[in-house]
Amino acid sequence: MKLSVLQEKGVDIQKDLIGIFFEDINYGADGGIYAEMIENRSFEFVDARGDNDAYFQIYDGMYGWEAFPKGEKVNLSISTSRPQNQVNPHYLKADLKKGQGFTNKAYDGICAEKGRMLKLSFWARTNKDCLISVGLVNGENFYDEETVHLRGNSTWKKYQVSFCAKKDVRHELFCITANEDAEIDFDCISLFPQDAVCGIFRKDLMEKLEELNPKFIRFPGGCVVEGNELTNSYQWKNTVGDISERKANWNRWAVHGNNKDNHFHSKYSHYNQTLGLGYYEYFLMCEHLGAKALPVANVGLACQYQSSQRVLRDNPHYQDYIQDVLDLIEFANGSSDSKWGSVRAGMGHEAPFGLEYIGIGNEQWQTERVDFFERYDDFEKAIHAKYPEIKLIGSAGPTVFTPTYDAAWKNFYEKKDRTNYTYAVDEHYYMEPDWFLKNTHFYDKYDRSVKVFSGEYAAHDPEVKEDGKRNNFRCALAEAAFLTGVERNADVVYLSSYAPLFSRIGYTQWAPDLIWFDDKASYGTPSFYVQKLFSNYMGNKTLKSTLENGEENGVFQVVSQDEKNTYIKLVNTSDKDIKIELEGVKRGPAKTVTLKAGDLEYNSIEEPLKVAPIEGQLDLNDSLDLPAKTFLIINY
Ligand code: AHR
Repeated sequence: MKLSVLQEKGVDIQKDLIGIFFEDINYGADGGIYAEMIENRSFEFVDARGDNDAYFQIYDGMYGWEAFPKGEKVNLSISTSRPQNQVNPHYLKADLKKGQGFTNKAYDGICAEKGRMLKLSFWARTNKDCLISVGLVNGENFYDEETVHLRGNSTWKKYQVSFCAKKDVRHELFCITANEDAEIDFDCISLFPQDAVCGIFRKDLMEKLEELNPKFIRFPGGCVVEGNELTNSYQWKNTVGDISERKANWNRWAVHGNNKDNHFHSKYSHYNQTLGLGYYEYFLMCEHLGAKALPVANVGLACQYQSSQRVLRDNPHYQDYIQDVLDLIEFANGSSDSKWGSVRAGMGHEAPFGLEYIGIGNEQWQTERVDFFERYDDFEKAIHAKYPEIKLIGSAGPTVFTPTYDAAWKNFYEKKDRTNYTYAVDEHYYMEPDWFLKNTHFYDKYDRSVKVFSGEYAAHDPEVKEDGKRNNFRCALAEAAFLTGVERNADVVYLSSYAPLFSRIGYTQWAPDLIWFDDKASYGTPSFYVQKLFSNYMGNKTLKSTLENGEENGVFQVVSQDEKNTYIKLVNTSDKDIKIELEGVKRGPAKTVTLKAGDLEYNSIEEPLKVAPIEGQLDLNDSLDLPAKTFLIINY
């Protein structure tokens, strides 16, 4: 086999080509990267049930909370009579005897290593001065506690206190007890580890995102944008301001997999959104990672799979959806004396965030009932009338190679001459590994006049059913092969992101996913490393190159270059070690990165780096050995 690299430019590569797609699915936000440890901190959780067009929620404000000592009768109840705020009106009334209190289950329990500071804040109201203790509970033992003096003046007051884990703890409950008989109201009880990045994000998960070096973040979904119905569609204005006043909601993924057999009630039915990770925090996350924000707007449609709900275009309320996007741009980019810019500044960010991209709808598609194309027109017109520079993302629906996908592309091609009409069209494909291997030329044939955002894709192995094992190397290698085609076609594919990003073990509605975690640790999948390598080893243009007898033997390649570096990517999906002769490749020392494993190998909490890249050196000569089942990068 011979690799020939010509010193001739292929195409320019957009610097934002590799990004990430964040959705609050699989407990990726609450219980995930949002470092809040308390589950149901504002006593607003609901138990979400039902199915398509027949959803209902049962209020379950004590979810996650229990009396302490366990099994003892403690006078705890929920009230709304004199709330801390009107947005989240429920609060806990605790009529406590000395030594009594309550615990929080904190997802899988509190996990903290010795010496880690935990920052607690809560609202409380009591009519007489009293002392309470806050800390952790292991069975009967209450420890690591701090004492807090509550002021008895019958008004809500916010308290903040830190306490430190004095030994390594795991699966402990968080606990508050009274040091004397007292009647106390509590609300918004929040506990963050002190090492949370920006005070908000779970450290190990942010570090994983840093490794990916994403150039953009698409958020907050996914179907979460649309909601199962309009009541739980994502409304960004509910996600900014003080955390106690962000209207909690049920998560779209709480009802995933509901059917007759489970009585339309899944084990995720208490998957709620506190919205503590809201738009301000998403922008901060982008800023921290040096990634551009790509928020996705709802266009007045609930999830087309899950619901028939929509706001008709001639309904005056439809204009609110458009106004929300205009206000979002002002929130992100407006001066601090504009209406929404001042909200941003009030939250602590005087300078604009520099929003460039907005997605119009998630994976909407046109039907007889759903006029997505006309909605896109309405949004585009209104946004560009005020903000002509904003880059808008269209949608080609949930799949490729379907009539709806064809119709979407026809629509966008027909409008291609309208100035700045669409920056790129978002298309989604979750396919078998073999599909990715057979479609490395997928984008070769695309008309270049409208660009692509490959916004959700992942190889799904039909032979593997167990969640964690689904992220095997066969899938990752197929994605790497496919991405050689994406990179080679970077003149038409402007943006791309694997999906979904996160999954908490034991809380998974959708697998495979890029990064897995539990209460303590996290790991990147083989697909994570493919993303990381493509993101970190890519030039700003491709070089024309050929690999004689490559693809027919399962070997794929792409070569790119910038001012300082050349990157050769070789993906050998076959079972054979292969010798590759080199032509047009510089001789001498080069760095290598090798990702190699067996088809069914995968990473896990126990073996997080079983499949991981290994850096090395190579003295480039007339040929090189490319082992079987290997993704190899050569960098000089
Ligand atoms: O990534 C999971 C889901 O797949 C997304 O929410 C949705 O956009 C797609 O159908």
